[in-house]
Amino acid sequence: MYRLLFQFFFSRLDPERAHSLAFAFIRILGVPLIGGFARAFTRPPRDISVETLGLRFTSPFGLAAGFDKNATAIRGLGNLGFGHVEVGTLTALAQPGNPRPRSFRLVADRALVNRMGFNNHGSESAVPRLVRHRRRSHGSVVGVNIGKSRVADIDDATEDYVTSTRLLAPLADYLAVNVSSPNTPGLRGLQDVELLRPLLAAVKSEAAGTPVLVKIAPDLSDQAIIDVCGLVAELALDGIIATNTTLSRDGLVTDPSVVDAAGTGGLSGAPLARRSREVLAVVRSHLAEGVCVISVGGVETAHDVVERLEAGATLVQGYTGFIYAGPLWVRHINRGIAKITKPGTGRA
Ligand code: FNR
Repeated sequence: MYRLLFQFFFSRLDPERAHSLAFAFIRILGVPLIGGFARAFTRPPRDISVETLGLRFTSPFGLAAGFDKNATAIRGLGNLGFGHVEVGTLTALAQPGNPRPRSFRLVADRALVNRMGFNNHGSESAVPRLVRHRRRSHGSVVGVNIGKSRVADIDDATEDYVTSTRLLAPLADYLAVNVSSPNTPGLRGLQDVELLRPLLAAVKSEAAGTPVLVKIAPDLSDQAIIDVCGLVAELALDGIIATNTTLSRDGLVTDPSVVDAAGTGGLSGAPLARRSREVLAVVRSHLAEGVCVISVGGVETAHDVVERLEAGATLVQGYTGFIYAGPLWVRHINRGIAKITKPGTGRA
């Protein structure tokens, strides 16, 4: 059904417009009575929950950052079955992002290219919604992903992140420090450990006990990834989210003229899976067992999720697969996880 809807309707719309329509539908699923039905329908057939970061996740599978930038649809997304929803990226200052069009489908690759540029209403705007969500406390865990405001100088990045931390850490189940989006000039340079150390130390101190994870790019060399793992251990951070989108366009089957027409930005979806798995292996082998690793990039099926869990991921996220597979995607994945894994193990 969704496949037909996608083929004949959504795929003909500008991706951002399609996103707005889908988003309106998901928000309806946040209305109590409708949401209750949705939750009953999407509930996994048995307990597949995971405990990490001092929290219980009803499923190891969650929604990656960028879909619900302003934390306006947490409830509806939770009712679709996501074990956690990572909202954001939120920045200290509200900003419009890059000019449109800024999101493109590469259908033959089941991929997207985006250069959104952290369009969001600013960290402060999300506060009342996160307060309301906390008060109602239902189901899915909420991670809050923070980034640097575009107008903030790289030298002032720490202050900018700390402003968001001060506002949002008390309302987040965990905080994700995004230093890996390719669409804010200079941002990825913050992954250099000498720049990253003071930034993460300041965020951790301001977060006052809220778990802090750092989100990294797939384009880092293995040595740079190992260096970040060392920093996570040194600062006793809670984990790593790997990975963000890639600048690479290798291995695509989409007509090169279509890829060129999309232009600059981060590539997500199926072509990212291989590097994302490689990064997971590097990260897992350089972090202590108890440190949380969230694997993201090119996940499409329950088998993909279980494969990441078996490779050492604590949790798994997806985004682009949701665009191509539609609202029942999470239900399918959770049912698949329940079927494939042995109860209580997360392993096949
Ligand atoms: C993203 N992603 C992203 N990540 C992030 O940390 N902050 C953000 O604001 C966004 N925004 C965003 C917008 C769009 C349109 C896409 C497709 C992606 C990256 C996302 O969270 C994830 O890391 C990658 O997309 C890889 O996962 P998938 O899409 O291959 O499952």
